[in-house]
Amino acid sequence: MALIDGFGRKISYLRMSVTDHCDFRCVYCMDEDPTFLPRDQVLTLEELHQIAQAFTELGVEKIRLTGGEPLVKSDLTYLVEQVAALPGLRDLCLTTNGSRLKKFAQPLQAAGLKRINISLDTLDPERFTAVTRNGKLERVLAGIDAAIEAGFERIKLNTVAMKGSNDDEILDLVAFARDKGVDISFIEEMPLGQLDANRRQQSLLTSDEVRAILSERYELVPTTENTGGPARYYRMPDSDIRVGFISPHSHNFCDECNRVRVTTTGQLLLCLGNENAVDLKAIVRAHPGDTERLKQAILDAMMKKPEKHEFRTDGETQILRFMSFTGG
Ligand code: GTP
Ligand code: 5AD
Ligand code: SF4
Repeated sequence: MALIDGFGRKISYLRMSVTDHCDFRCVYCMDEDPTFLPRDQVLTLEELHQIAQAFTELGVEKIRLTGGEPLVKSDLTYLVEQVAALPGLRDLCLTTNGSRLKKFAQPLQAAGLKRINISLDTLDPERFTAVTRNGKLERVLAGIDAAIEAGFERIKLNTVAMKGSNDDEILDLVAFARDKGVDISFIEEMPLGQLDANRRQQSLLTSDEVRAILSERYELVPTTENTGGPARYYRMPDSDIRVGFISPHSHNFCDECNRVRVTTTGQLLLCLGNENAVDLKAIVRAHPGDTERLKQAILDAMMKKPEKHEFRTDGETQILRFMSFTGG
């Protein structure tokens, strides 16, 4: 059985947000003083597993665990082990801020996690603390090294490109990725959650602008390789790493969309930039263990997937939900 939406797109990639909590407070992601969800509204590990099972039975081959910060959820390694064992799953990945990877990289790899994406916006310790509002760069750098040592199939750094914040570090970030032998993606910031609209509008740095900066030092050659996500990749003749660009504003990728997400509260969200959703938590709680019912609800939900997002670039936000509930 396959999941096909109303525009003929096959859905094979599920993103699951396992917690809205995070030990950082990144300026583009949440408030300085965020309100976290009541515990009873958050999916349990068993519920997450049941939902993952339903999706894999419907042909989903790739699952990415996100947050908030997934590694603040206790027993995440156990969930990874459970989900990794689901028949049909080919790729199990994690998006993390890296702060706890020194401790968890090796156990996660042993539990069956294949790929890991780590946020890194700057290599300057003071800037890092400013962007994350409290994070310590050295912990993330130690986490990156631990992930490399643990031997994941692929590691990717995620950099939200921001004018006046890290545009002067684009070359250094790619040099760092080359040195470590890991991929790096530059992301255009998306307007989720009511945050400082002025900052958002003024800091938007497009992928073309990032590429122009990179062309001062590197020859970027486009490649059709992809990781099944929205990034479009380039290679450099003298390195094995890939440089990706996630460009929701400047190069819309919705026509090739293959993904849906489950939020921290168990809403099946059909698009990051749209509120259409179906309440899967209500189903798993009313009918625990009834995977067939869950599968039917997921199949029906496909018709609610919109054709594309309509993110604005003037700093204003139409989507009040913060990134930390959907994990991107
Ligand atoms: P891989 O391709 O598997 O490496 O992962 P990914 O790039 O899909 O995942 P990651 O969690 O690292 O997300 C990187 C950025 O892509 C984040 O800013 C996400 O919000 C964004 N992103 C992922 N999927 C979508 C999507 O469907 N739509 C939009 N607009 N952004 C997305
Ligand atoms: N726009 C774009 N990317 C974002 N991320 C978090 N908030 C935003 C936003 N508003 C990134 C994080 C992380 C990934 C899950 O999404 O840096 O790497
Ligand atoms: Fe898919 Fe929506 Fe993302 Fe577009 S914004 S790629 S439709 S999830």
